[in-house]
Amino acid sequence: MPNFIKVAEVSDIPPGTAKVVEVQNVEVALFNLEGQIYALDNMCQHAGGPLGEGKIKEDVVICPWHGYRYHIKTGRYVKNPDMSVACYPVQVEDGKIAVSVTQ
Ligand code: FES
Repeated sequence: MPNFIKVAEVSDIPPGTAKVVEVQNVEVALFNLEGQIYALDNMCQHAGGPLGEGKIKEDVVICPWHGYRYHIKTGRYVKNPDMSVACYPVQVEDGKIAVSVTQ
């Protein structure tokens, strides 16, 4: 069952930027794409690079270590869906962001 935990304020993450937070011992990268918040596992499937520190290009984040690209809205690795990262559900209420890392 999803367990939404408040982790940040929308105002902490201007559009086009990201922020890394910890949710129940999971590092999560929050992205603001044109005002919509998305949450991905922060750890790149290649060698664990921090996706929350990656460059954002349209709706894709580029891993800062070796350039793997993931769709921010789904966590899908652009070249190989089998190497996607987890995409977590997000709730936004009164400017506060809550994320669930449990099903
Ligand atoms: S660790 Fe992300 S591309 Fe290598």
